Amino acid sequence: MRSAAAFLALLLCLYWTRAQGESGGVTENDITQTDVQSEILGVKATSDQTNITPDIWAELEELRYVVIQHSLELRNSKSKMEKLEQENTAIQARLTASESKNAVLEARMNASENLVKELQRDLEARLNTAENVLEELKRENTVLEARMSSNEFQVEELKRENAERPKVAFSVGLTNAGYVGPFSTAITLQFSKIFTNIGQAYSPTTGVFTAPVRGAYYFRFNGFAAWNSIAIDLYHNGNQVTLSLDRVGNNDYVNVSNGFVLQLEKGDMIYVVLRSGYGVYDDSLDRTTFSGFLLFAM
Ligand SMILES: *[C@@H]1O[C@H](CO)[C@@H](O)[C@H](O)[C@H]1NC(C)=O
Ligand SMILES: *[C@@H]1O[C@H](CO)[C@@H](O)[C@H](O)[C@H]1NC(C)=O
Repeated sequence: MRSAAAFLALLLCLYWTRAQGESGGVTENDITQTDVQSEILGVKATSDQTNITPDIWAELEELRYVVIQHSLELRNSKSKMEKLEQENTAIQARLTASESKNAVLEARMNASENLVKELQRDLEARLNTAENVLEELKRENTVLEARMSSNEFQVEELKRENAERPKVAFSVGLTNAGYVGPFSTAITLQFSKIFTNIGQAYSPTTGVFTAPVRGAYYFRFNGFAAWNSIAIDLYHNGNQVTLSLDRVGNNDYVNVSNGFVLQLEKGDMIYVVLRSGYGVYDDSLDRTTFSGFLLFAM
């Protein structure tokens, strides 16, 4: 009876172990193949003494097989689990690495964003400055344009004035025929050789210069004589301005000359008069001349 009870307990124990294995509760320290074998053999030894039937032995063999299978499966799952754990650890490590990489990226992105904002602010400030400068330049430009058109107007006016300003200048010689005079009356010398007569204010037919405008004029004359005394006068509207007289002896030459700035009204007349009793000489060397020009109108 005692061995029968022990066998029953063993069966219960085996059944419990199997249930534990199926629910995943068995660990490394649980039943090994040799443990089970020795226990069964122990039971068999006691059973031999009490004559247990061979049917039960066969069943025990089957149970033993089941237990071995189960333990093998357990081992399998254990190594699978270890593998899974390793994989899990690896994944964790990669995740941690990823996270720290992510943090670095975020920091760089933040820095980039800040930089972009700063650049934007800087750009806006510079743009504002540029706009202000542009406005200022536009204003200056407007002022300059006004001044320029005023200047252009003045230049045009000056050009017109300059174009309208009378141009008066003459230079004439008396004659190529040698002596003129002496005569019994004074005569106006008619300088007939025209070097220049801009404005045609000098008349070679009368010998008179007539002022075309009111203004300041410059006049100059030279008279040459040989073997005869010379006396020529500069006249302004019938009034003597100057007398130029010189006496010469035999085989002598003489030159008289003078120059004046005169203020004339329009129509005033200027001419050179040879006094009665005196002579004046000229030839192709242009020794006796009369010149004048307008300094400026007034
Ligand atoms: C990046 O900026 C965000 C928002 O400003 C902030 O919440 C985060 O902590 C910043 N990250 C780092 C790494 O500085
Ligand atoms: C007068 O001027 C003429 C040139 O016109 C010159 O040949 C002559 O020597 C001058 N005579 C005197 C005395 O200055």
